[in-house]
Amino acid sequence: MIELHRVWKIYSVGPVKVPALSDVSFRVGKGEFVTLCGPSGAGKTTLLRLLYRDDVPTEGEVEVLHQDVGSLTRVEVAALRRSIGIVFQDSKLLPGRTVYENVAFVLRVLGTPRREITGRVFDALRAVGLSARAQAYPAQLSAGEAQRAALARAIARKPLLLIADEPTGNLDEGMAAEVIEIVRDIWAGGATVLFATHQATLAATLKQRTLTIHSGRLVKDEG
Ligand SMILES: Nc1ncnc2c1ncn2[C@@H]1O[C@H](COP(=O)(O)OP(=O)(O)OP(=O)(O)O)[C@@H](O)[C@H]1O
Ligand SMILES: [Mg+2]
Repeated sequence: MIELHRVWKIYSVGPVKVPALSDVSFRVGKGEFVTLCGPSGAGKTTLLRLLYRDDVPTEGEVEVLHQDVGSLTRVEVAALRRSIGIVFQDSKLLPGRTVYENVAFVLRVLGTPRREITGRVFDALRAVGLSARAQAYPAQLSAGEAQRAALARAIARKPLLLIADEPTGNLDEGMAAEVIEIVRDIWAGGATVLFATHQATLAATLKQRTLTIHSGRLVKDEG
């Protein structure tokens, strides 16, 4: 499902070269739930962005769904992204659109037949417990509701791979637990999940395989 081979990502900040990822290699099989854990600045977001070709590695290979992500054409990148659901660190909902429209918008962009859209949006909203908030705007949502709306948007396409970048970062314990339950349900439905968090305690409660990165290096792979 995912394979990184000796991946380096080096950012140039003025004359200074900063390695955000240093020689990272690992493999994630289909149907796995993997927690990506590391302190703020460790390189979690950088790593995830390479998986959906939001950026390319400086060195090394990134393979997702049996494709070499670095060498894809634009059309192939679009096709890859149709199979990946992404929940961003900040929910990235479109502020001028309702919850319903935020989810429907992505389905339209992905070319979902019109007659299927309403049903798929409400299936996704039901899965995250937000059916009653379909007509609300992002500004009217609590942080937990906004993160659940972002999850609905990610799962409406029925992704093979769900990438969640600190989806519980700004939430209190109760709301975080709800979001985690939803992610677990998506995993139970057959999706492969990569879940980033800076909270080691959360990684421990997830009781899943955990990849730990520190200063861009993969220092542990256990569970
Ligand atoms: N576009 C960029 N240009 C320059 N440096 C960057 C860029 N993106 C990230 N970095 C640097 O790379 C390192 C890793 O950042 P990254 O955002 O991947 O960390 P993170 O583990 O996701 O942290 P957090 O838990 O705070 O989200 C940091 O030192 C950051 O400053
Ligand atoms: Mg991050």
